[in-house]
Amino acid sequence: MSDLVAAEAIDHLYGQLSHSLGSFQKQHHEADRLKALKAAQGPTQVMCVRIAIDMGIFVTLTERNRPVPLAELAAPRGASPILAERVLRVLAGIGYVSECGERTYAPTAMTRQMTVRLSIVMMMFIIFDVGMPTLAKVPEFLRRIDFHNPEGPTTGALQFVERTDKVIWDWIPGHPDYMESCNTFKEGDRGSRPSWLEWFPVQERLLDGACTEGDGAVLMVDVAGGRGHDLAAFAAKFPDVEGRLLLEDLPRVLEESSVDATWIEKLPFDLFKPQPLHAARVYYMKFILHDWSDEDNQRILQQLAGAMQKGYSKLIIEEFVLADRDCAMLQAMWDWEMLVFCNSMERSQAQWTRLLESAGFRVMKFWSPPGDGQGIIEAEVKE
Ligand SMILES: C[S@@+](CC[C@H](N)C(=O)[O-])C[C@H]1O[C@@H](n2cnc3c(N)ncnc32)[C@H](O)[C@@H]1O
Repeated sequence: MSDLVAAEAIDHLYGQLSHSLGSFQKQHHEADRLKALKAAQGPTQVMCVRIAIDMGIFVTLTERNRPVPLAELAAPRGASPILAERVLRVLAGIGYVSECGERTYAPTAMTRQMTVRLSIVMMMFIIFDVGMPTLAKVPEFLRRIDFHNPEGPTTGALQFVERTDKVIWDWIPGHPDYMESCNTFKEGDRGSRPSWLEWFPVQERLLDGACTEGDGAVLMVDVAGGRGHDLAAFAAKFPDVEGRLLLEDLPRVLEESSVDATWIEKLPFDLFKPQPLHAARVYYMKFILHDWSDEDNQRILQQLAGAMQKGYSKLIIEEFVLADRDCAMLQAMWDWEMLVFCNSMERSQAQWTRLLESAGFRVMKFWSPPGDGQGIIEAEVKE
């Protein structure tokens, strides 16, 4: 690997790590998180964290909650103490454990964080098992396509590395561990950033003016909503609203959803087929359109537009809106993650506007989030 490519890989890895750590639920002191982030800048450090998960080091230290000698940390998986020490040396350097004597280690906030399911999933699936092999090959992939901006769900770096021609959503179910990890990741991908329900004027823009009388009236459809965490959050925040709430996704994803059926109905569907629910007040889409090319999105959006009632139905898109300069690092890195996983991209305001216009929509307003998270794009079908 040339120095330049290695440096790019490390920068990218750092971004991925930064993104994933940024998404950790706040169970630890912020200063610890930043310290650990700063330290864990290279593939070797990330590799050691990944090995430590397999060796059960974080779990053992967290359970003991006291200084633990090396032999005790190596024991759970029968690891050679020398190998465990090589891993722990690095973990101590980046604050994932602390050294409190020779070959004796104590848990830190990061140790405990690495026993949280979402953190493990991030490190294992997103960063290491799928992310790393793919990102290591991205430079070669881009050389092969003469540095054209890649797009298309079956011809990306992931397909190049995994030697598949499947769309990621059809490839993941062939790897049951990844399926569970991926669904868990989706539930935590907003991390500690505030939910749109905290800052978007839901009452004024969506609930006022909603016609929810009659049994069939649909208030909100979460279009490809995964296992339904966003709709469940909506139902919890607005428990008294009238009107049906519907969760749509692929059948195999809905089967894994345990949303409360007294509030939320499930409807298997396909983004590329006509939207089965007509004239809902709100069609909500989070992190869907950034998975696809403009061409695929036009097809998706046109299927949706066919079901929307002009002047009444609203399309609420929760996505990053990239700044034209001084783009937040989190968003710039997510853009690369989209290349790595979906062969797609994040979009700027102008790109979103162009896409939506081309599919028969009018953007009513771009709503900016308080921090560096996803914004809300409010759109309606054109009159
Ligand atoms: C990035 S996830 C976003 C899920 C959810 N909206 C969220 O933000 O957590 C994309 C979702 O699209 C779904 N999906 C992919 N292809 C689909 C298709 N052809 N029809 C319906 N859903 C699809 C996946 O199952 C997945 O749940």
